[in-house]
Amino acid sequence: MATLEIRDLHVSVGDGSDGAKEILRGVDLTVKAGETHAIMGPNGSGKSTLAYAVAGHPKYEVTSGSVTLDGEDVLAMSVDERARAGLFLAMQYPVEVPGVSVSNFLRSAVTAVRGEAPKLREFSKEMKAAMDALSIDPAFAQRSLNEGFSGGEKKRHEILQLEMLKPKVAVLDETDSGLDVDALKVVSEGVNRFASGDTGVLLITHYTRILRYVKPDFVHVFAGGRVVAEGGPELADELENEGYEKYVKAGASL
Ligand SMILES: Nc1ncnc2c1ncn2[C@@H]1O[C@H](COP(=O)(O)OP(=O)(O)O)[C@@H](O)[C@H]1O
Ligand SMILES: [Mg+2]
Repeated sequence: MATLEIRDLHVSVGDGSDGAKEILRGVDLTVKAGETHAIMGPNGSGKSTLAYAVAGHPKYEVTSGSVTLDGEDVLAMSVDERARAGLFLAMQYPVEVPGVSVSNFLRSAVTAVRGEAPKLREFSKEMKAAMDALSIDPAFAQRSLNEGFSGGEKKRHEILQLEMLKPKVAVLDETDSGLDVDALKVVSEGVNRFASGDTGVLLITHYTRILRYVKPDFVHVFAGGRVVAEGGPELADELENEGYEKYVKAGASL
């Protein structure tokens, strides 16, 4: 059983004139295979910073604490090694790459994760099956990566990657902007599909909207760079009705 463990994680960002700023102030979180966790919190509470730190983004410096996947030190791994170990990290703002098709990109990603290039014919078959399963138009495979993608297409691509890469743990930063109803449904169906399997899902979100479609097993409220409350799906309902206000105060006073 795969387990992602985050222990007392402290992360700082920026080396500008006013020095590094501590954003994460002791995050503890455990995500096991087959579980869906939602991290919810106000803007600026450090949710994306958590995703970037786990992804190994160079701007985010881990000053203390640990991140392990099945006991292996994730923080000591390169970005590629993290992917190979079974971590999938979907970025909030994917980069447009004209001239590189979705299909080419996926083959590179699959090669990086599996450690060897899949045979072209087998890969094509596999990709076609994955796209069928997700009701994605076959023409999508030839589109330029992220170029002019709608919100829904970005999300379809994200879920297609999940299907092809079969990670142990997926971290999806689904923040606010650009998630129309179409995109929401794609993400929800995808997450629900993976959540019923062996993948552990960490779904990061600001709005409670998506949780009408995805039922997380655990909800963690994030404020001031740490988890300030935890519960089951009922906590998401409470947040939908009452907002984050009381948690922001709790986060500030810690
Ligand atoms: N690359 C960065 N450079 C400087 N400050 C950053 C950077 N990334 C995040 N921050 C700051 O860290 C805090 C948390 O941001 P973020 O993790 O994006 O929060 P959230 O995703 O919860 O909205 C904010 O105050 C933000 O300005
Ligand atoms: Mg964010």
